[in-house]
Amino acid sequence: MDDFLTGLPEATVLRDPSDLEPFLRDESHVRGVLPLAVVKPRGPSALRELVRRAKAEGFGLVPRGAGTGKAGGCVPTARTVVVDLSQWPGDIAVSAQDLSLSAPASAPLRDVKAAAEAQGLFYPPDPNSWESCALGGTLATNAGGPNACKYGMTRHWVLAVDALLEDGEIHRFGISSVKANAGPSLGQLLIGSEGVFGLIVGATLRLTPLPREHATLLLPVRRWEDLLDLPGRLCAAGYQPSAFEFFDPAVLAELRAHGPEEARRLPGEALAILEFDERGCTAESFLEGLLDLLGPMAESLELASDERQRKAIWAVRRMTSAFLKERHPGKVSEDIVVPRSRLRAFFEGLGRLGAPCVTYGHLGDGNLHVNLLAADKTDPALLERQLNGLFRLALDLGGTLSGEHGIGLAKREAFLTLSDPAHIRALRAVKRALDPCGIFNPGKVI
Ligand code: LAC
Ligand code: ZN
Repeated sequence: MDDFLTGLPEATVLRDPSDLEPFLRDESHVRGVLPLAVVKPRGPSALRELVRRAKAEGFGLVPRGAGTGKAGGCVPTARTVVVDLSQWPGDIAVSAQDLSLSAPASAPLRDVKAAAEAQGLFYPPDPNSWESCALGGTLATNAGGPNACKYGMTRHWVLAVDALLEDGEIHRFGISSVKANAGPSLGQLLIGSEGVFGLIVGATLRLTPLPREHATLLLPVRRWEDLLDLPGRLCAAGYQPSAFEFFDPAVLAELRAHGPEEARRLPGEALAILEFDERGCTAESFLEGLLDLLGPMAESLELASDERQRKAIWAVRRMTSAFLKERHPGKVSEDIVVPRSRLRAFFEGLGRLGAPCVTYGHLGDGNLHVNLLAADKTDPALLERQLNGLFRLALDLGGTLSGEHGIGLAKREAFLTLSDPAHIRALRAVKRALDPCGIFNPGKVI
């Protein structure tokens, strides 16, 4: 076993425990175990050999992008090798004619979005970590983010996936067109599978013309419950915000007291950030219609006057997760979803649950980051009851226990316990069919 990675072609291999240490974590509260090694492949022969040796020696392969995941999907479990795809080769190429972009898993999402923008095109998926995450991780986790309420999730923007399967080869599923209907989509099965069926090494993405207008609004409220009906009312009235985010009073107060300069000026008892990006959204007629709909709430509405202000607002929103983590290192952050129409019922239920928590997140699509700030100081059995209560509440209201972060290790137990058994049986049957030796990300999700 000592020499099981000797002579691996086209790869950097790390074995020293001090080099392995940084790979034990992602941005969740989960910590993995020391892997056997970290391998950074630079070509298909490295992956081919890794698969062969994984089967022969009985070790697992844990994919890793930039390590910004929030569910422990890329942290190592027992007897695994971390496959860090940061050195995977390939260029970002845009086809304006096909409205598509191809890129390797190693491409920083920031560069993918910038390459599209350079040609007047837009790749919408926008997890708040987009400045630091890698494309591969966003594909493996089907990342979400603030503008999913208009544009959907990562999977809605993927035309084709290049993935390593258990035969040791890289296969492409999909074509450079939105119309591809020859049988069920294996590409879509791989997206969001967190590497348990195979490893995604690249993709062809769908693009759309770049929005040129943005109306970014701060909507402070005195009674924060007043915000809860608004996402549904906006939709029913024909408005489609490209983002509708919120901070509850506790998160807003903490940001204001201890956050960066831009956060100190944030108004309200609680606060929503609303953004529209369709053509005409900055015209007076559009905004007047919106004011009518908001009624008395509109009194304190603030419109970002320029791009600098818009960026400052988003900078605060984007750093919220890291800010809270720094102040409460032992916190657990969840990402449940309920349908927009059930937001009020959800918060009433959350109150009855009595778990001490704060919330912020994507109100526009019902995806809420419920943070238990003192999780590390809570009796583990009680914490488990609180989290299960939270998940059950979301499920009872027609929602789910993860809207965007995925299952990974963090939510595996709850996922297995609370899901329809037929769902788990079917996923495990797919796992056995695609990964009969169990080499891909063992112990995760299912
Ligand atoms: C966010 C991350 C936690 O929305 O999903 O900030
Ligand atoms: Zn989020």
